Amino acid sequence: MKKSDYANTSYMPKTLLKFYFKKCFPGLYKWILLFMVFRLFEYSGSVVFPYVERWIVAMFEGAPMGTAIYAYVMPTILLLVGINMGYSTIAIIRDHISSVLRPYLNRKISQVLTDYVHLQSMSFWVNRMAGSISANIRYCNDGAETLINNVWSMVLRLVMIVLNSTLLFTVNRYIALTFIGMFILRAIFVFGLRKKIKKSAERRASTGSALSGKILDGFSNNMAVRLFAGESREHDYLEKPRAEHVNARRMASFWQRLSWAVPAYFWDMMFGATLIFCAYMYSRDMMKLSDIVYSMAVYYNVMGMISSLINEIPTIIDGMSSAAKGYKELSVPLEVVDKPNATTLNVKHGKIEIKNVSFKYKNKYILRDLSLTIKPGERVGIVGPSGAGKTTLVNLLMRFYDVRRGAILIDGVDIRDVTQNSLRENISFIPQDPAMFNRTIRDNIAYGRPDATDAEIKRAARFASADKFIMLTDKKYNTMVGDRGIKMSGGQRQRVAIARAFLKDAPILILDEATSALDSETEVAIQKSFEKLSHNRTTIAIAHRLSTLRNMDRIVVLDHGQIIESGTHKGLLRRGGEYARLWKMQSGGFLQEEKDEK
Ligand SMILES: Nc1ncnc2c1ncn2[C@@H]1O[C@H](COP(=O)(O)OP(=O)(O)OP(=O)(O)O)[C@@H](O)[C@H]1O
Ligand SMILES: [Mg+2]
Repeated sequence: MKKSDYANTSYMPKTLLKFYFKKCFPGLYKWILLFMVFRLFEYSGSVVFPYVERWIVAMFEGAPMGTAIYAYVMPTILLLVGINMGYSTIAIIRDHISSVLRPYLNRKISQVLTDYVHLQSMSFWVNRMAGSISANIRYCNDGAETLINNVWSMVLRLVMIVLNSTLLFTVNRYIALTFIGMFILRAIFVFGLRKKIKKSAERRASTGSALSGKILDGFSNNMAVRLFAGESREHDYLEKPRAEHVNARRMASFWQRLSWAVPAYFWDMMFGATLIFCAYMYSRDMMKLSDIVYSMAVYYNVMGMISSLINEIPTIIDGMSSAAKGYKELSVPLEVVDKPNATTLNVKHGKIEIKNVSFKYKNKYILRDLSLTIKPGERVGIVGPSGAGKTTLVNLLMRFYDVRRGAILIDGVDIRDVTQNSLRENISFIPQDPAMFNRTIRDNIAYGRPDATDAEIKRAARFASADKFIMLTDKKYNTMVGDRGIKMSGGQRQRVAIARAFLKDAPILILDEATSALDSETEVAIQKSFEKLSHNRTTIAIAHRLSTLRNMDRIVVLDHGQIIESGTHKGLLRRGGEYARLWKMQSGGFLQEEKDEK
C-alpha cells in the first residue's frame, strides 16, 4: 500500500455502511474476501465433525469384535487425522489473514476520518472535545471489525445451523424439529429485546466518549487545575460522568445477558428430553448407536452455534450502533466548503472589501452591517474593547466561518468563490493565541513552507527576533516544543508564529495581537521588521497596546461589531473620541502624543 494516499474529501456518505463500503473497504477487498472464504471453511467443521464422530463409532461398530482391527481401521484413522490437520491449517491461515486485514483496515478508517475532521470548520472544533473525537474514531474502527467478523460469522452460523438441522433431519426428524423450534424461540426472544439492547449500547457509547472528552479536557487544563488547587474538584467533576458510564455499561450488559440467560435454561432441559427420546428409540431398536452419537454431536454443535449466534446479535447491535453514533458525530457536513467551481485566488493588488457584513455564532450578532475597504498595500490597525469582534472579523476574512450576510472580496473576488486553500495561501496570519505542534522548532517555523531551506528558516527566525533564544535551547532548531508549544514562553511562541508567517511570505498580512506577549525591547525590534515586511503589503493589525499601531496608515475603532471611528493616529487624537480616550488611559492619564506634537 502506498504511503501517501491522502484523498482530499469534503463529503462523507450519510450512513456508516456506505462509509465503510465507499471509503474504507476499496483496496482491501482481496483480503476481506479471503477472510470470508476461510471463515467459511473454518465453520464448515461444524457440519463435518459430527459426521466424523458418527463415522468413528460406525467404524468400531462394524469391526468384528476380538479380531485384529488395525488393518481395518487404519485407513479411516489416517483420513481423520488428515481432516483434522486440514482444519488446523485453515485456522492458522485465517488467523494470518486477520492479522493482515485488521491493521490495514484500522489504518484506513482512522486516516479517512482524521483527514475529514481536519477539514471541519472552526465551529466543529469549538463545540467538541478532542478526546471524544478520537473516541468516536475508535468506535468506527470497532464497527468495521464487527461488520466483517461478527456479521459474517452470524451469517455462517445460521447457514451451518440450517445445514446441520437438515442433515439431522435425515437421521432423526423429531430431534431436528425440536432444534429448529428452539432456535426460533430464542430468535424471537432476542428480537423482542433488540430495542433495549440497541438503546443501552448507544448510551454506553455516548457516555463513554463524553467521559473521555472530559478527562482529556482536564489534562489539557492541568495548569489551571494546579493553579487553583482543583485536583479534588476535578475528581468530583468526573464523578458524575464516570457514574453515568458505569451505569450505562451495566445496563448494556444486563440487557445482553437477559437475551441469552433465559433461553439457556430451556436448552438444559431440552438436553435431558433429547436423551430420553434417544433411549426410547434405542430400546425399540429404531436408532443405531452411531446415530445417537451423531445426534448428540449435532446437538452440542448446534447448541453451541445457536448460543454464539444469539450472543453475537447483541454484540453486533452494540458494536454497530456505537459506530453509527460515532460516525454521525464525525461526519457532520462541513460548514465551510469550496464551491464545485471554486477558482484559485491569485492576489495581485491585495485590495480587501468588507461589504455590509453581518455575523453571529449562535443567536447574538457579533458583527452588524460592517463595511470596510482596505486599499492595496494599505496598513490598517484595528482597536476596540475585548469582545468587540476583532478576531471574529479576521476569522471571517480567513474564512474560518462564512459570513451570514454581506460579502468579503479580495481584489474584487468574493472569497466564497475561491478555494479555501488558495485564500489562506495568500494570507500570512498570526493568531491571537498561536498553538504549536509538538514537533521541532524548525518544523513549526517551516509549517507553511515545508520546502524552506535552513538558511531561509534562520532568516525568518532572525526577522522575528527568535534566532537568539532558539540558539540557546539545547538542540537549537531541533528542539521539541512540547504539547501545544508548552515548553516555550508565551513571547517565544509568538515569535515562532511570526517567523512562520514571515517565511510564508504571503501578499496579505494579518496580525491578531501578534506582539502582545513581548517585552518592549523585543516588540520595538519586531515592529521594525514588520514595517519592512508590511511595505507594499496589505496589512491588518489588531492590538490593544495602541502604541503598536501608531504608524499604521489608518486605524479603525471597532465596538459592538461596528466601526465607530476611523482615521490616522493623529487624526483620531485630534478628534477626541473613543480612540483619544483609550490613548489617554494608556499613556498614563495625559496625552503624551499631543505633548510631543506641540
Ligand atoms: N466560537 C464562538 N462561539 C460563540 N461565540 C463566540 C465564539 N468566538 C467568539 N465568540 C463571541 O464573539 C464575541 C467577539 O469575540 P472576538 O474574539 O471577535 O472578540 P475580540 O474583539 O477579538 O476580543 P479580544 O480583544 O478579547 O481578543 C465575544 O463576545 C465572544 O464571546
Ligand atoms: Mg481577539
